Amino acid sequence: MIFFTLGLVCDLQAQTVRGQLLDRGGNFVNAHGAGIMQYQGTYYLFGEIKTGKTWLVAGQQWEDYRVPAGGVSCYSSKDLKHWKYEGVALKPSTGDTSKDLDTGRVIERPKVIYNQRTNKFVMWMHIDKKDYSYSQSGVAVSDRPQGPYRYLHSLKPNGNMSRDMTLFQDGDGRAYLIYSSEQNKTMQVCLLSNDYLSPTTLYRRILIGRNREAPALFKSGQKYYLITSACTGWSANAAFYAVADRPLGPYKVIGNPCRGTGSGLTYNAQSTFVLPSPGKPGQFIFMADRWNKLDLPKSDYLWLPLKVASGKVVIDGN
Ligand code: DGJ
Repeated sequence: MIFFTLGLVCDLQAQTVRGQLLDRGGNFVNAHGAGIMQYQGTYYLFGEIKTGKTWLVAGQQWEDYRVPAGGVSCYSSKDLKHWKYEGVALKPSTGDTSKDLDTGRVIERPKVIYNQRTNKFVMWMHIDKKDYSYSQSGVAVSDRPQGPYRYLHSLKPNGNMSRDMTLFQDGDGRAYLIYSSEQNKTMQVCLLSNDYLSPTTLYRRILIGRNREAPALFKSGQKYYLITSACTGWSANAAFYAVADRPLGPYKVIGNPCRGTGSGLTYNAQSTFVLPSPGKPGQFIFMADRWNKLDLPKSDYLWLPLKVASGKVVIDGN
């Protein structure tokens, strides 16, 4: 029993990240607001490419620090420790800020899922203008996990604003888009079409009036857990989680999953994704961004073990 427990701890610690992550070429992994998709025994990590100079958008009443939208990167790994750079999965465009993927715009929180019916890889992401007034979800598709992805368009699901977002694919093959809506006051969960390329008209308002962003939804046992942050620009704040019996909710807010020193600020990080720990029911990897708002490309990562025990979510960052 002692050996088993020690083995488990070591294994989980090996997937812990606190700071920069290096790829197999020795370069910093450039994948912010990331998510991971598993396909045929390989993990694919997708995230925002942040390079260039950080500036503050004039005339905004909040921390609207920006860096050129660099598109979406992809890395692959068999063990979640050694990452191979697969290149730019979704390229940005330049010179026309009316285009969704222009480097002067916002491309954030890309997430990818595989559609077994169509044999396509589908990416959703937050697309915005530099003042975040556009508030749309973008969709792109590829025949290969690592891309290149073909950008289709962006949209407002059922006419609703969508900013920080994530995807969740359930065991029954249904997929959901979860996004901050209504000026970030309320989140929404929307069932996607069978090909995952469009929102359906089935959606629910959740965490009503709670002002949350950075959603990360996962399933443990028969329950669905949603971790979110508060809305404080790039500055850290306290996470909370909510639980539901179905992806569409209703969700019941439970509280802060973080324990120990720094738990009031999510250890200076913000949620982006929760990945089931390979072969370990009830154990997960909590993935978060440690933003450096004055120099956004220097932002790094915090990946911590997350456990669900007796229906409670616990992250211990110490
Ligand atoms: C917090 C969000 O979670 C990030 O993805 C980004 O949109 C920043 N706000 C912008 O301030």
